[in-house]
Amino acid sequence: MKQLNNKHFVLGLTGGIACYKAAELCRSLIKQGATVQVVMTDAASQFITPVTMQALSDRPVFSSQWDPRQTNNMAHINLSRDADAILIAPASADFVAKLLHGRADDLLSLMCLARPIDKVPLIIAPAMNKEMWANPATQRNTAQLKLDGVHVLGVGVGDQACGEVGDGRMLEPFEIVEELESFFTKKVLKGKHVLITAGPTYEAIDPVRGITNLSSGKMGFAIAKACQRAGAFVRLISGPVALNSPRGVERINVTSAQQMYQAVLERVSQADIFVATAAVADWRASSSGEQKIKKMNTSGPPQIDLVENPDILKTVAQLPKAKSGELYCVGFAAESEELQTLAVAKRKSKGVPLLVANLGPATFGRDENALLLVDETGVRELAWASKDELAVELVGEISRRIGSS
Ligand code: C5P
Repeated sequence: MKQLNNKHFVLGLTGGIACYKAAELCRSLIKQGATVQVVMTDAASQFITPVTMQALSDRPVFSSQWDPRQTNNMAHINLSRDADAILIAPASADFVAKLLHGRADDLLSLMCLARPIDKVPLIIAPAMNKEMWANPATQRNTAQLKLDGVHVLGVGVGDQACGEVGDGRMLEPFEIVEELESFFTKKVLKGKHVLITAGPTYEAIDPVRGITNLSSGKMGFAIAKACQRAGAFVRLISGPVALNSPRGVERINVTSAQQMYQAVLERVSQADIFVATAAVADWRASSSGEQKIKKMNTSGPPQIDLVENPDILKTVAQLPKAKSGELYCVGFAAESEELQTLAVAKRKSKGVPLLVANLGPATFGRDENALLLVDETGVRELAWASKDELAVELVGEISRRIGSS
């Protein structure tokens, strides 16, 4: 899914060593379906050449408001009017200060000042030395720019080109692309608080072995990302998985079903929506010894007594706030056969308004899936697609059902 399809950006580069990342950023934007018009300040041209940016953007680069290639000599108007956003990356401390004062003594600052504020948003990705970033002047300037309606992205933390370590690095190109994708997502869950469980649980039998399952957590993480982009505050309670947290999502790591149960119950009172994607182990060993169970030659395999884990979804669906509709619960079912029949029955047994079924063996660990949505009115199929795309569709379905779209 190309999330920035048909979007057009003016990509403004200002003076800073992070200009080298702007080349990758330009490529990434184009890979996501966008078109890019590069505008550079003279200072930016000290760090990377317009030739590089022209080759990557497939358009001539502009730097001067006196550029004769524009027949009416109004590059600042002509180049910005059809843009979906002006993105300044990197935005130097000096350029941030300039924007704050509404100065317009070069093409890029002129273009920012002359843009129709309601139609062409301005997004900046600051990049500077940590002391420059921490300086009260820069902090004051960025705070005021936010009040002026500029979308100021955060900065990264870590090694800086000057040899110092701290806040002020430009976000990585992939992070900026994610921020843009989020920026253009309709905020259908604005103000909502979503609690999600994801991944498998792991039930220890002894210190080295345990009971778990093949859930990768990818579907739950995709839903967390889609909810966050749709404007929700998202808490993601995850079993053991090898996935990075979606940007802006609060993640709580747990191992066992009992820990997941506790983590959910501690937080559910704040939630408006609960999505249980986790593949929770139904049973755990009644006791887990402190030492590894040894293979005994004579006595055969050990007997492992199992006890049932608490059903997190069922418990939450029974809470008064779920029954009153203040909390909207979505359950999942990973089946291996008879999807529809089992899903309809599971929705009833769990007591949830919406149950999403999928064929576990067909999707475990994969980036794609197909979903069957079952509610009181019937069944809707979401055909085989990427988990990211399905998550976006599911968020739309949930927001419609709770009347928040
Ligand atoms: O009963 P089954 O495991 O098939 O139900 C699946 C649904 O119930 C999923 O939404 C899953 O997250 C949830 N579940 C739960 N706690 C359990 C078992 C399942 O929340 N102990």
